[in-house]
This record gives sequence, C-alpha cells and structure tokens, in this order.
Amino acid sequence: MTGVVVQAPAKVNVHLGVGPLRPDGFHELRTVYLAVSLFDTVTARPGEGLALSVTGEGADVVPADRTNLVWRAAELLSAAAGVPADAELAIAKTIPAAAGLAGGSADAAAALVALDALWGTRAGREDLAVLAAQLGSDVPFSLAGGVALGAGRGERLSPVLARAQSHWVLGIAGEGLSTPAVYGELDRLRAAGRLPEGTDLAPAEPVLAALRSGVPDELAEALHNDLQAPALSLRAELGRALRAATDAGAAAALVSGSGPTVAALARDEPSAVRLAAALAGAGVFRTVRAVHGPVPGARLIG
Ligand code: C5P
Repeated sequence: MTGVVVQAPAKVNVHLGVGPLRPDGFHELRTVYLAVSLFDTVTARPGEGLALSVTGEGADVVPADRTNLVWRAAELLSAAAGVPADAELAIAKTIPAAAGLAGGSADAAAALVALDALWGTRAGREDLAVLAAQLGSDVPFSLAGGVALGAGRGERLSPVLARAQSHWVLGIAGEGLSTPAVYGELDRLRAAGRLPEGTDLAPAEPVLAALRSGVPDELAEALHNDLQAPALSLRAELGRALRAATDAGAAAALVSGSGPTVAALARDEPSAVRLAAALAGAGVFRTVRAVHGPVPGARLIG
C-alpha cells in the first residue's frame, strides 16, 4: 500500500450554550455542530516510527511534532489496536488554526481514519469515536460530520435533522484565539456579574426547529453562542467584523466556536457568493471563504 488520503471538515457551532465550569476543568455544553465544506486532508504512508509534516493555511503556527493532535491520535490508535506506531503523516491545511473552526480536531479525526486503513486495524466507527473523545471535545464530531447535538463537554453526540443545506461566509480575522482563554474570560465575566451565571444551559430547541424547517431566516433568528461575549471582550475589533457581515447583507452573523472566525449566514448560494465578495473587499478579514453544510465527516478520498 502506497498511502491513504482522508479529508475532514471544519465546523461551525450554530448553537453553543455553555454551563458553569466543572470540577474536571471543562464546561458542560449544549451545542449544535454543523460540518461545513472547508477541509483539511491527512495522508498516511508506510514508515518506520512516526514522522509528521504540515503544509498549507497557517502551517507556520501548527507544530509538526508529538504535541500535534495527529501525532497523539497515531499513538492512541497504535496502543489501542496493539500495532506498532509506524507511519509518515502529512497534514495539508485549508482550515485556519486557532480560528474556532475545529481544524486541529479535523486533523485528528482524519488521522484516526487514515491510520485505521493503513494499519488494517479494522476499528469500527464506534471504536474510533471512543478514541476521538480522548483526543478532544470536538474530535468525535469531526469524525461524524453532518449536523449533531453535542452534550457533556461536546463529545456526546446525537443526530439532528437538517432539511436543507445552509450557506455561509467564514471571515477569518487577525490572530488566532486560544480556546481555554476564551472559556476563562467567560468564567471571569460571569464571576464579575457582567454575564448571567450559565446555570441554566441555553436550550438548543430554537436552532433545532430552524434546521428542521430549513428556512434561512428562522436559522438566522435562532443562532446562539455563549462564547461570543468573551471572544468580543478579548478581541474588541470582532464587533466591527460582525457588523461588517450584517452590513454586507448577511441574514445573521456570529462568532464561530471560541472565535475569532465570524460565520455569516447567507439566504442562498448566490447571496453567499455576493456576500463573500463584499466581505473580501471590506478590509476587516484576512481570509474569506464561502462554504455550505452539512457535509460528511472524516472519510477516505484516496
Ligand atoms: O477538549 P479540548 O482539548 O478541545 O478543549 C480545550 C480546552 O477548552 C479545555 O482544556 C478547556 O479549557 C476548554 N473547554 C471547556 N469546556 C469544554 C470544551 C473545552 O472548558 N466543553
């Protein structure tokens, strides 16, 4: 076998309700994940020991060593399956790093699928999902793709019905934001009484109903992200980026996950193309991408 190629998608949280900090350092979540058409690929080839390379969008800030989630995915699968951790791994990125799009989680999910095929471990999707949850809260969703409700720290998934594709423009602004820093800022704002405590998790029902109906304006109305206020508190210029998106005709705009990516919802595909062109010229985003979702999770493409 010369090698296997797996692609895995970015995600947007169309609903992200965050509860109080748990004793284990994570927050209880009620989230709705949507996989969108921006993909990283991981190629796995036979090798001796592990080797890793990273190319593409943001490759300069992604470590190509054992601290990379892909490396940890390889060690975890090798230990679980009882096979030697021998592979040459290459990550080709189009999902920006530290952007709130789960790029690192996509890479880890892709690595699990690629190495399962390369090593012939024949782990089922269920087995891979258990390993994925050990790697990170978002990794099980990157594996599953589509659209799903996430509970626990985000890793406990249940299926969600989406009647239609939705069309988005992702605006990536400035430097990356650290996920723990954004959660920490939420805790700080809550402790200072500047945000509600979060003991009542924001319900996902409005966004689930909007996805079932498939009407973009209903989805626009229902979008919710508890991490948006702390992301804005750490990065004030995100407010301008959100306004730029709605001024340019987005049905709604919100911060994706822990940010700093702005996810602008368009009413249809032609509107998304126009919105992307307007936002590319607005001077507030480093990169602008028109995407759609739901799309499948990590899967073999070669
Ligand atoms: O699970 P993952 O490694 O992606 O989480 C990164 C960090 O984000 C955690 O260490 C924690 O600080 C924060 N986090 C959280 N609650 C979650 C998920 C992540 O506080 N449900």
